[in-house]
Amino acid sequence: MVEKISSHASISARAVCLCRALESTQPSGSRQLLDVFAKYFLTEIERLTLRSVANWGTRWIEIASQGLYQEVIRRHATTDSWLEEALGSGIQNLIILGAGYDSRGWRFARPGLRTIELDQAATQTHKRQCLKRFVTKFPEAQVELSPVDFRFSSWPDVLPSFTQSSVVIWEGVTMYLSREEVIATAHTLAGKLGRGTEVIVDVLLPNAPMRGTSSPTRLGLGVLGEKLKWFLPLHEAPSFFEPLGFKVSQLLELGDQPTGPSHIGLIRLSRL
Ligand SMILES: C[S@@+](CC[C@H](N)C(=O)[O-])C[C@H]1O[C@@H](n2cnc3c(N)ncnc32)[C@H](O)[C@@H]1O
Repeated sequence: MVEKISSHASISARAVCLCRALESTQPSGSRQLLDVFAKYFLTEIERLTLRSVANWGTRWIEIASQGLYQEVIRRHATTDSWLEEALGSGIQNLIILGAGYDSRGWRFARPGLRTIELDQAATQTHKRQCLKRFVTKFPEAQVELSPVDFRFSSWPDVLPSFTQSSVVIWEGVTMYLSREEVIATAHTLAGKLGRGTEVIVDVLLPNAPMRGTSSPTRLGLGVLGEKLKWFLPLHEAPSFFEPLGFKVSQLLELGDQPTGPSHIGLIRLSRL
């Protein structure tokens, strides 16, 4: 059965943006990430709430989320550092699949860098409204937002082929796709990217507390139309991605919490 195209902006994208906005309020010595634009994608009430909880620190949310908060922040911060390395070697295109409220197109803006964000139309419509409202807060940047749905076969038409050096970020998305949809998306990417192109992708791990059938996170996401569908043991990443045309160059399990097993595995791939 083909599921409906979402008519509302992604709640999971909002939730991770809220995490980044919270982390960015923390003192420079203790935060892992500074995303100065995250707050512009929040509602007025969310911004007010953020201001009042900013000085509680983040331990409460790490515990309440069974470590997921920490992993979401670490995923973004590690991806930033890998992206910075690639920028150092002069990449010209940044392609972000399921970009949500990602602000890298502005945080890493520089002459000659083109950022292409792909996501469902409703999320992009809301993002555009926020960008328009806070236009003076964002620097000049070449960022293009193209609506797609990875579940449908027409999405590859939106993405040009990239022969120039590029980096693809596919963060926080594979778990919302079926195994077949992940394979089809990776297959499309392989056909569009030049040899050596780096793809940074994450997967939900089999023992992730949020995979439990009674997990409030999983139940809540399901109710909101963002069902968790796919997971991959990290050690299976090479045998999963290599037949699709990608070599694994780095694997990272993101949790180190006493609160339980890791939720997320981060994978650095390179197009063969
Ligand atoms: C958890 S959010 C991650 C957002 C962003 N990558 C980040 O890390 O802040 C998941 C994103 O995947 C997008 N997404 C999920 N399923 C999708 C699909 N079938 N087609 C396009 N985008 C999808 C959602 O709209 C949402 O923006």
